[in-house]
Amino acid sequence: MSSPLRIGVIGLGQRGLQHLAALWQLQQEGAVEIVALGDAFPANLTPEKLNQYVPGLPAESIERTTNTQSLINADLLDALYIAIPPNVHKGEVVAAAQAGIHLFVEKPMSLFLDEALEMENAIRDAGIISTVGFQQRYDSQHEALHDFVADKQVVMACYTLHAPIEAHSVKHTFTETVGGPGNRVWTANRAWSGGTVVEAGIHPLDLWRYWFGDVEWVQAQYIQRPPAEIFDGADNPYAYSANFGFANGAVGVMTLSRLRRVFASHGDHQVLWNEGRVALEREALTAYHYDGDYPPAQRPEAEAVRHPLHGPNTNNTTYEIAAAFVRAVQENRQELVRSSFTDAMNSLAAVIAANVSDELGGARVEIAELMISEKYAPQRKKIVG
Ligand SMILES: NC(=O)c1ccc[n+]([C@@H]2O[C@H](COP(=O)([O-])OP(=O)(O)OC[C@H]3O[C@@H](n4cnc5c(N)ncnc54)[C@H](O)[C@@H]3O)[C@@H](O)[C@H]2O)c1
Repeated sequence: MSSPLRIGVIGLGQRGLQHLAALWQLQQEGAVEIVALGDAFPANLTPEKLNQYVPGLPAESIERTTNTQSLINADLLDALYIAIPPNVHKGEVVAAAQAGIHLFVEKPMSLFLDEALEMENAIRDAGIISTVGFQQRYDSQHEALHDFVADKQVVMACYTLHAPIEAHSVKHTFTETVGGPGNRVWTANRAWSGGTVVEAGIHPLDLWRYWFGDVEWVQAQYIQRPPAEIFDGADNPYAYSANFGFANGAVGVMTLSRLRRVFASHGDHQVLWNEGRVALEREALTAYHYDGDYPPAQRPEAEAVRHPLHGPNTNNTTYEIAAAFVRAVQENRQELVRSSFTDAMNSLAAVIAANVSDELGGARVEIAELMISEKYAPQRKKIVG
């Protein structure tokens, strides 16, 4: 076996701590050695806090610093996770790529396409292994659906999530000290999160890409939250409707909301091919399709068209994506991860395109144009807050 990969994590908040737990498991299996942890806030780097989330981690003996740049330049690392809020990047991805450090970057890689393109170029020029935090591609239900639709003509996917605004979790970034929301719920704030399609919708959108390919165009309209209804900086829209056009001809329909005083979530996820429908539910993946003689002599009973494909997810997806990334680095085989940084660019561009479309009154935004056309230069540009 090759020597353990020297690995670091920048951003030890909600997601970084989950990654740290997966990496600690991989360390105990001999695959990695966690050598450095970086975070802007010292309180997120104390051994007590780290051990609260990752029991047994020998935090005292790991390099811990608030100077993330020094950590990148110290020649300590083979690979690095970056799990910081998407609006606070300050060149960490580019610097790490230029230092030859393999990269795991959390989604959304940036809220700004110019910045993400710069990251992508640096990663490509450096020839390092990369992946983005689309761990849902490693969910066993999602793998089963991927295999099931591989030989089918998918025509539509429909995803609905109505999650109460109060369901947002309190994050670990001390946003109140850096001009963000006073209650640390930065996902509810547009400038920090990019809105719900970018922050959360990117996951189902990326699954659609995993199942049936790239997005070509986007049309979206949002229902904005008026100033009088904004509390604690939670200024994301009330509700979102976004249509994503895929290169294979399918359309993805996404409806999301974040409303107050609901305290009950509702979700629904369906994938339709030309002769059937697959329903994704927490407990089961089920296809609805008649596969007998056609046309049937009598209308088939409901049970005859119902085909259970898979039960609940059985994978620890955060561990699986970590193991795939580590193996890809060790074997220098980018194809071992399901989403490289370059692959993830289409997912990022699609959700940013939804915001652009809404801003333009629901105009159809072609992804190829959004990436390079002068017309969209203002929408690609980084806004420094
Ligand atoms: N893949 C997933 O399912 C998933 C789930 C949750 C979050 N995320 C993503 O992970 C990223 C982090 O989100 P989170 O939920 O962990 O947020 P968080 O606020 O809980 O944690 C972010 C961490 O980064 C640190 N940090 C903030 N600014 C920093 C800076 N400039 N330099 C260094 N460290 C800094 C904070 O102190 C905190 O410890 C986001 O991009 C988010 O969208 C992904």
